[in-house]
Amino acid sequence: MGKKIIVLNGSPRANGNTAALAARFIKGAEAAGHEVRHFDLQKMDIKPCLGCCAGGKDPKHPCVQRDGMDEIYPAFMEADIVVLASPMYFWSFTAQLKTAIDRSFAVAELDPDYRLHHKGCVMLMAAGGDSEPNFAPVKDFYASLLGHLGWKDLGMILAGGVMAPGDIAGHPALEEAEVLGASIK
Ligand SMILES: Cc1cc2nc3c(=O)[nH]c(=O)nc-3n(C[C@H](O)[C@H](O)[C@H](O)COP(=O)(O)O)c2cc1C
Repeated sequence: MGKKIIVLNGSPRANGNTAALAARFIKGAEAAGHEVRHFDLQKMDIKPCLGCCAGGKDPKHPCVQRDGMDEIYPAFMEADIVVLASPMYFWSFTAQLKTAIDRSFAVAELDPDYRLHHKGCVMLMAAGGDSEPNFAPVKDFYASLLGHLGWKDLGMILAGGVMAPGDIAGHPALEEAEVLGASIK
């Protein structure tokens, strides 16, 4: 049976390198029969977490704030797989993606033990640098995040050496992203 997949794309560049990676992943996943929803976080009104820890009271509106996350929450709760797609900004995800991740805490607040349902997770990332040390901090962050959430890593596609939109054309990571999407079971 097809899986429910959501792509949280934190790139501010609609036609950038991350968008190209996400498009190829989605192509592979849809060809394999999965249902994919793509959220372009830059275009959405998503406010930062207030740290009030007062969410989790209403499954229809897990957070006390009413904004674009209300569109994401139902899909996030249903999703079997979450794809975290972002350019590398200062050795991490963009603020757009980090903000959405922070706001997912309101879903965990629906559970008395602050647990989210088990999910698979994929990371897609474009970066200007192309060395192992350049990617080490974000790989650590991704591993810590998944360790905390109890989610399973299904794969990381890291496209280094790409700066301007379009630089990713012909990069092997594009094919790898499509193959990863198609390999989802
Ligand atoms: C504010 C900012 C911070 C960045 N920080 C890094 C970085 O820490 N390491 C890196 O390799 N590239 C860095 N880059 C380069 C981007 O990761 C690169 O341009 C990427 O291809 C952008 O992806 P996009 O086209 O999807 O926006 C940074 C770019 C910007 C604008």
